[in-house]
Amino acid sequence: MNPAPAFVNWADGALQAPGLQRSEKKLGQLTGIFRDHQAWQKLDPETIVYRVWWWEPVASGTAGGLFWGLTEIQPGRVGNEYFMTRGHWHVIRNRAEFYGTVAGSGKLVLMDRTGHTWAEDMAPGSLHYIAGEVAHRIVNTGDKPIRVIACWPSDAGHDYEVAEGRGFGARILEERGAPILVNAQD
Ligand SMILES: [Fe+2]
Repeated sequence: MNPAPAFVNWADGALQAPGLQRSEKKLGQLTGIFRDHQAWQKLDPETIVYRVWWWEPVASGTAGGLFWGLTEIQPGRVGNEYFMTRGHWHVIRNRAEFYGTVAGSGKLVLMDRTGHTWAEDMAPGSLHYIAGEVAHRIVNTGDKPIRVIACWPSDAGHDYEVAEGRGFGARILEERGAPILVNAQD
């Protein structure tokens, strides 16, 4: 049976849906994500970095279905690195995804299977097609929360190996007040 409609406030991306799922990530849970470990240890581990709300109109793992979500990342930095999501591959690697920026500004960091890493500018209205086989992470480079809507296949799954393993090939760091993409080994 087709699910009943959900509701989105298009001004801020807020989502109302039956059985709305949610999760939040605090600094203390983001072990090994940020480059400056000492700066990370000095910050309050209870600081919320980001929240995600999402609607699963079909069961997770269903082939051919879609999910809808909203991610909100707080402004902030660990050393000179901006607050960001852990980032992930999809478990089924060829699954694509849309991200759309509703509010705030940031960078979408993308990495292909060879480790080549690049970034796209995120600003209200920017709509990003993330191809399959591309790992993705959102970085908040602004001074207010960035809110991003997403739509992805219900069988895509999330693989955080990229966050816990060797990481993305580049990071977004603040230099002289502006975000720059810096190769991870630099
Ligand atoms: Fe994704």
